[in-house]
Amino acid sequence: MKIVAIIGARPQFIKHFPFELACKGKVDLITVHTGQHYDENMSEIFFTQLNMSPPSFTLHVGSGSHGEQTGKMMIEIEKIIEDTKPDGVVVYGDTNSTLAGALVASKLHIPLFHIEAGLRSFNKKMPEEVNRVLTDHISDLLFVPSGIAVQNLKDEGVEQGVYEVGDIMKDLVQYVTGNDLLRDHSPKEKNFYYATIHRPYNTDDKERLTYVLETLEQLDKKVIFSLHPRTKNLASSYGLNLKDYMNICFIEPQSYFSNLAYLQNSEGLITDSGGMQKEAYWLKRKCITIRKETEWKETLVDHANILLFQDLSKINDELEKQPHSYNINLYGQGSSASKMVDKIIQFIN
Ligand code: UD1
Repeated sequence: MKIVAIIGARPQFIKHFPFELACKGKVDLITVHTGQHYDENMSEIFFTQLNMSPPSFTLHVGSGSHGEQTGKMMIEIEKIIEDTKPDGVVVYGDTNSTLAGALVASKLHIPLFHIEAGLRSFNKKMPEEVNRVLTDHISDLLFVPSGIAVQNLKDEGVEQGVYEVGDIMKDLVQYVTGNDLLRDHSPKEKNFYYATIHRPYNTDDKERLTYVLETLEQLDKKVIFSLHPRTKNLASSYGLNLKDYMNICFIEPQSYFSNLAYLQNSEGLITDSGGMQKEAYWLKRKCITIRKETEWKETLVDHANILLFQDLSKINDELEKQPHSYNINLYGQGSSASKMVDKIIQFIN
């Protein structure tokens, strides 16, 4: 049995690792890396650090407008799928690489399996929301991490092929913490908040990005800010000098282990990432999400994760409030990848 898996952006390399492990000895995996993320520390470092097989195909699509990026990916993915004739195609999450892979598979009538299906922000201005809604509606198997995601799909009339299997990122966090793999990656710094900000609504406007950075500058603990290339490029195009922010220490995008180690050693996370809201929860770190809404509503229970957007002046106070407890079963037990592989094999047979 032969499956093509489409990856392309940083969070997808992470999600692919447990899936690749679960496929070993059961399914032949052909990996297509679209090249959406191409900097070494946005891409290659994850393959090296997690000891993943190199992609079978790399498309070098790179940056561009959404149409250009998605279109270029589709042209190349179509050729690969026609040549390799897989029994199914796996796509992860909600990036442009996800949508490109999903559209091609669907039009070629190849069974499509969506990992991390059913998530909704109900904000159609987010490219990710459009990508995930469209992908869900053309998928044959939809692997969802939570009951809310099952309900979201039901509300849109999607009930067939939906399996609640837990979250694939939890598989990896458990693997890493269970094997003490963060031990050698602890940062020297202590008593800091960790920050990652890259979403268009926080970065694509000079005033907004300045407001976010000035807020972090005023916090009562030092902020270590892992700088996504999008944020770095935009800050520079606005003429912002990052060295002017004395309370913020900007660092390059981190490897998977270093990123988790910063998070684990921090006093709290400030982010607009999707995946890091969950990672903060599993590592029992308070999270402030700089967004109006989240797809990961379960993390909002008991102040574990707080949404702030318009008025960021409450960040200091909110970071002080700790939840009473964390639900250790949130988004499954860390065994989702093998469940997905079993369902895929069953479906194809
Ligand atoms: C993409 C995903 C987003 C995900 C994020 C994780 C879409 C629509 N968005 O957003 O859901 O949270 O990845 O990182 O697919 N760049 C580089 N080097 C790189 C990659 C990007 O310099 O290796 C810069 C380029 O200037 C590029 C910009 O970052 O134009 C944005 O990259 P892109 O992949 O289009 O979207 P992300 O913002 O990273």
